[in-house]
Amino acid sequence: MNNAHYELHGKVAVIRMDNAPVNGLSLGLRSGIVTNVRRAEADPDVHAIVLIGSEKAFSGGADIREFGSPAAIAEPSLHTVINIVESSAKPVIAAIGGACMGGGLELALGCHFRVAVAGSQIALPEVKIGLLPGAGGTQRLPRLIGVEAALNMIVSGQPVPSELLKGTPLFDQFTEGELLKDAIAFAEKVAIESRPLKRVRDLFATHPKADALFMFARNAVGAMSKNYPAPLKCIDAVEASVTKPFDEGIKIEGKLFLELYWGDESRALRHLFLAERRAAKVEGIAADVRARAIASVGVIGAGTMGSGIAINFLMAGIPTVILETTQEALDRGVKNISDFFEGRAKKGKMKAEKAASLVALLKPTLSYDDLSGVDLIIEAVFEEMGVKKAVFEKLDAVCKSGAILASNTSTLNLDRIAEFTKRPQDVVGAHFFSPANVMKLLEVVRGAKTADDVLVTIMQIAKKIRKTAVISGVCDGFIGNRMIGGYSREAINMLEEGASVEQIDGALENFGWAMGPFRMGDLAGNDIGWAIRKRQRAENPAVVSGAEAIADALCEQGRFGQKTGSGWYRYEKGRRNALSDPAVGAVVEAHRKARGITARKIGSTEIVQRCVFALVNEGARILEEGIAQRASDIDIVYIYGYGFPANRGGPMLYADSLGLINVVRAIEGFARQEKAGSDFWHAAPLLAKLAADGKSFNS
Ligand SMILES: NC(=O)c1ccc[n+]([C@@H]2O[C@H](COP(=O)([O-])OP(=O)(O)OC[C@H]3O[C@@H](n4cnc5c(N)ncnc54)[C@H](O)[C@@H]3O)[C@@H](O)[C@H]2O)c1
Repeated sequence: MNNAHYELHGKVAVIRMDNAPVNGLSLGLRSGIVTNVRRAEADPDVHAIVLIGSEKAFSGGADIREFGSPAAIAEPSLHTVINIVESSAKPVIAAIGGACMGGGLELALGCHFRVAVAGSQIALPEVKIGLLPGAGGTQRLPRLIGVEAALNMIVSGQPVPSELLKGTPLFDQFTEGELLKDAIAFAEKVAIESRPLKRVRDLFATHPKADALFMFARNAVGAMSKNYPAPLKCIDAVEASVTKPFDEGIKIEGKLFLELYWGDESRALRHLFLAERRAAKVEGIAADVRARAIASVGVIGAGTMGSGIAINFLMAGIPTVILETTQEALDRGVKNISDFFEGRAKKGKMKAEKAASLVALLKPTLSYDDLSGVDLIIEAVFEEMGVKKAVFEKLDAVCKSGAILASNTSTLNLDRIAEFTKRPQDVVGAHFFSPANVMKLLEVVRGAKTADDVLVTIMQIAKKIRKTAVISGVCDGFIGNRMIGGYSREAINMLEEGASVEQIDGALENFGWAMGPFRMGDLAGNDIGWAIRKRQRAENPAVVSGAEAIADALCEQGRFGQKTGSGWYRYEKGRRNALSDPAVGAVVEAHRKARGITARKIGSTEIVQRCVFALVNEGARILEEGIAQRASDIDIVYIYGYGFPANRGGPMLYADSLGLINVVRAIEGFARQEKAGSDFWHAAPLLAKLAADGKSFNS
């Protein structure tokens, strides 16, 4: 397939890249560019060549649809394309508009001249998927815009608006007008003036204090990118642009690229990149299902979650009504919301007028009548079925037909909530994570009767409020909280068996979790789990309390975590540092004594494996039951909702990387050491089967 078109404009050949949506450099596009450059070279009437993309993108870089396929590495490779462009005897002008990123920018750097239009985005973002620009970007960009500026772009991966690069040698001409017309005019001028072709490879990258610059960069970046080798390797590659001739620099870049490519971190980050895109697809829904229009939103409850949820919608410029039961609670919530926006303005993250205009989109109310016109309602009241029932019955009575009624419940049965209304097809779960305005994850809970267009709408609105949404079926705790059950159980069991709170958190934090389970409990509030346990016990009185009796004992002392100044740790007033507390050790000791348990030494490997494999095993069940659509969705939930180390790609990919057979063997080992009466450790049937067949979750 040829994804590039050829047009003649007088003596200028225009090669138009055409591979929607972002001109990913697929095999078809790469071949098309080569064919058309050759054609222009062969035509004596052609004096110059313009390479242009679409309005949306010059080129967004590699075509992600080709990732992992033979087409991705088939010739002509991007290197070959760039060499052909750069060595063309006729001037090649890149006409840059829209996204010019990754391989797209590397291709533009291979052209002899560049004309850019205002509003374009320029980036080498490879570092974000654990790589470095591998088609000459680390060698050409410093030669063109200077070592320091290039280093910043390559190490951060952040897009830079073309306006900010106006006046740099990256652009030979900057236009506010019509890109193609101006690029053709520029090409004609270059040809008429017989301007020497500017090959970036022939320039020199220099810096007066290069050694000091690289040392400084390594210190700064090394400290920030502990488990991620890519940023440091980016520095190594850019350094080669200064210290080595071009061809040698390209070889070094290639070697470093491959080291990263085959490393665990890049594998994990590439997995995550693709997983995010896959997560947006809802299985079993026809492609022509259209989203409902959402012009306004209602939030019920202005507590911890309701306030954060409202902030998300306000940030997206969507008018939001927030409802509470008392003026006091309403005022408290509104204050939290306006404090957030004021804070952003004070920190210079947003203009004060903008902050004020967003707060003005909020309509606080105590009356359900104000919800009669809104398109989407998100309920975030107390986690009690009775309260949810009252709210949903009310919503059913006042909301207009077609309004979507979403619940932020963490654990309650969404299908029961839906039945409180006469429109269960409009009811869906929208499970945000705390703090709701910060955490990227949104679990969208698909009830038995949730309509397809409701799901499509929620997935779309999630994107608008910058969340990564994952579909979950209905079960106790949905994907994330259901899995965390086994993880927390193992953490507390090991506490009972002999490990300390600090040791368990330390082992998991060394593994890369943002926070160990006990620090996480203190942050979220241990009373939440306590309430859930009490509910579960009430529903099933036969359940005998195990090691979680330790958590109950702390809660009975009012140790709910950071909010009460103590939990698994103690906290000094106004501070969040978790400090060891001998009082907790005493509670643990008393518990062990009462149950006749002799403490044993538990190593870090056992701590990590028991916690993480508990997640994996439950994840396998969730997958088998169809609660999660795909293993990579589970990885997204854990990385964006629970702080699982991104460099390991999520629990399911991590298990894959170990080999599922090894996970099963470890589980069998834990089963052998399990205390009498417990049968927690059984490999889930899907896990056992995949392991036996030598397969993995993500293949
Ligand atoms: N806190 C978390 O980490 C978290 C995370 C995800 C989901 N959730 C879920 O979000 C919901 C809210 O949790 P939260 O932590 O924000 O609780 P919260 O106690 O901070 O806030 C609940 C708010 O709802 C108000 N409220 C109670 N009944 C109401 C009614 N009938 N109408 C209007 N407002 C009412 C209360 O006044 C309170 O301000 C729960 O379902 C919870 O399970 C919580």
